[in-house]
Amino acid sequence: MSVIDQTAPMPSTKVQSRKVVLSGVQPTGVLHIGNYIGALSLWAQEQVKYQNYFMIVDLHALTIPENIKAETLRANARTVAALYIACGIDPEDSVIFLQSQVPAHPYLAWILTCCTPMGWLERMTQFKTKSEQAETVGTGLFVYPALQAADILLYHADYVPVGEDQRQHIELTRDIAQRFNNMFGEYLKLPEGLYRKSGARVMGFDDPTAKMSKSLAETRKGHAITLLDPPNVIKKTIMGAVTDPGSETRFDHASPGVRNLLELYEVLTKESRPAIEEKFGGKGYGFLKKTLVETVTEALRPIQEKYQEITSDPAYLDGVLARGAERANAVASKTLEDVRQLVGV
Ligand code: TYM
Repeated sequence: MSVIDQTAPMPSTKVQSRKVVLSGVQPTGVLHIGNYIGALSLWAQEQVKYQNYFMIVDLHALTIPENIKAETLRANARTVAALYIACGIDPEDSVIFLQSQVPAHPYLAWILTCCTPMGWLERMTQFKTKSEQAETVGTGLFVYPALQAADILLYHADYVPVGEDQRQHIELTRDIAQRFNNMFGEYLKLPEGLYRKSGARVMGFDDPTAKMSKSLAETRKGHAITLLDPPNVIKKTIMGAVTDPGSETRFDHASPGVRNLLELYEVLTKESRPAIEEKFGGKGYGFLKKTLVETVTEALRPIQEKYQEITSDPAYLDGVLARGAERANAVASKTLEDVRQLVGV
């Protein structure tokens, strides 16, 4: 496990022998600021050090089929791809692709599913939470983490930059890889998760005890800010954020709602904690909120402008995704061939 400390540089590697980073997002709605802080901004910040694979995991999105219509899924996948680029991922260097365009993913997922004890999957908290909320769930939701393991292991990823909520899936990926290696010979690389020290778990503005999520963002006003929200929505959401009746702005003493605001400010401005505590101490939460409104609006403005530019030229995005699929398939099909040899099929 690694933690990104914004003040400490990542382990540096030569460009010729760059370590591999892989991550992905489910195209189940417009991305929110939690996705940006926990994942995309981290990918963009660290990208030059690594050979990166950034997926849009549309096969994973099928695990909640009642929420997905074909047209919506196709459109969401393109929105996510455009947002990757808008958030600063360089498509000339990083490989941006749709998971469904690389058949090795579900193929390897099947092989890994066969090596994964049911008990390991039953322990996954995301499965437990999602299945408790629904009357019945598809088997895909249960084996979801094996597909995620395949996503990662196909590219021999060294690092997987994700939010805190994915930690258990990354640990499971290591366990599955280890078990495969024990069964068939040392082959799969055990990846490490990369998490931000601050901002790895952005909480809902309306309820700082619940993680900001795409599904709640769609159903509850005031829960989240999406990357495409206009300034008036950003303002309304932050000004309405749940805080507390006090005035505590020290990171280690603040209530969950205030700490959430402080961490967002910290990640977006890269200012030090002592400087932030000094700036907001004794001024009331109104000042913190107003300043954060400006910070978030300014951070999202260039992303939204770039997004408009990218989506005004559909052929450009088609090209990025086609090249991405080609590059991803080249690596993934080689790994799959090795795995097929090892298991004897
Ligand atoms: P997903 O689509 O739920 O979320 C995408 C990324 O955003 C992070 N994230 C958050 N970070 C901080 N605060 C939050 N409130 C917050 N909400 C979401 C997630 O941790 C994630 O990094 N299973 C994955 C997708 C996936 C994947 C993979 C990721 C499939 N295969 C392989 C990495 C590697 C998921 O559902 O992410």
